[in-house]
Amino acid sequence: MNKINILFISLFSLLLFAQCDSGADDGAYNGDEEQGVELPMLDIDNLREAPFKIGGAISVSTLKSDEHYRNLVVEHYNSVTPENEMKMVSLSTGNGTYNFTDADYLCDFAAENDMRVHGHVLLWYYATPSWVSSFVGDRNDWLALMRTYITDVVTHFKDKGVTSWDVVNEALLDDGTYRSSVWYDNIGEDYIKYAFLYAAAADPDALLFYNDYGHEYSYVKLAAINNLVDELVDAGIPIHGIGLQMHTDIEKSENQIKYAVRTAAYRNLQVHISEFDVSVNPDAETSLTFTDSLSLSQQTTYRWAAEAMMECDEELRYGITFWGVSDQYSWRYEDDTDWVLPFSNDYQKKDAYYGLLQGMYQ
Ligand code: GLA
Repeated sequence: MNKINILFISLFSLLLFAQCDSGADDGAYNGDEEQGVELPMLDIDNLREAPFKIGGAISVSTLKSDEHYRNLVVEHYNSVTPENEMKMVSLSTGNGTYNFTDADYLCDFAAENDMRVHGHVLLWYYATPSWVSSFVGDRNDWLALMRTYITDVVTHFKDKGVTSWDVVNEALLDDGTYRSSVWYDNIGEDYIKYAFLYAAAADPDALLFYNDYGHEYSYVKLAAINNLVDELVDAGIPIHGIGLQMHTDIEKSENQIKYAVRTAAYRNLQVHISEFDVSVNPDAETSLTFTDSLSLSQQTTYRWAAEAMMECDEELRYGITFWGVSDQYSWRYEDDTDWVLPFSNDYQKKDAYYGLLQGMYQ
């Protein structure tokens, strides 16, 4: 895709965006009238009863070591994504050799508890094993390496009950151009097409996703992602869904979140909010505390995400996956003072949890 194309699509997206909501919205958090306090607090027995799948990124080591974590996963989630266990660096020990132990453990756990397993991720620029980073070969050698990896992994996990995959993760930069990676650098942009074709050949029934971030904060990137997906669909490549990571924060507007989701559903593809978490501390202030006001702002953002999913046709709602289980195990909690998930450190339901329910049922 060239830059003029991206610019044109971006302008077009901006126009559409403006039409979707004629209310004034400068992208900033709107203040008290948007907070969730005035809505009644609903509850259901657990999130498994929700009108679409709810999942979490699961760490196998925490699943084994923390009983409360495990209990919460079993109680609320009917979909799991391995946090790291299916990344190439975790699975691949050499060309054609693998360590499936932790990922298999998660698949067995999911089968015992009647959960869907979403495979994450076949190709990414990051988490590449050193034997791959240092591999030397021509384009055909790289395609062969990639084919062997995707074929072996998808075939293995087909038998373990994995029914969907993030085939390619984060292939684009914020300016809409392709990101450098061993795949892009050695094969060219076609690596994406081949990845989907190889995955489909190994498991023709699997749902195949393109996963990325930034849909809700960058029109340029959103347009580039949608353009890439459209090109794949037009070329007859088997792609079935869009993963919107949505590692987002309370400063993003309702429009930004809902418009991103709408553009995915507009393509008649499965819509997965695939790595959802909502920062209350986007500026990483070290002295911040989690006040009621921040909690209610976060509740509102969670509500918008659920509303956005409910706006999609039922058959396109692949679900919402949180990137973690409870706040203290979130990747964003480690570095900053932040509380990004619907469950607190002590596994209690936060306002964010009730925001989800508001979005689903009101
Ligand atoms: C990206 C990846 C995830 C995870 C998160 C944060 O979004 O897709 O697998 O690594 O970063 O850690």
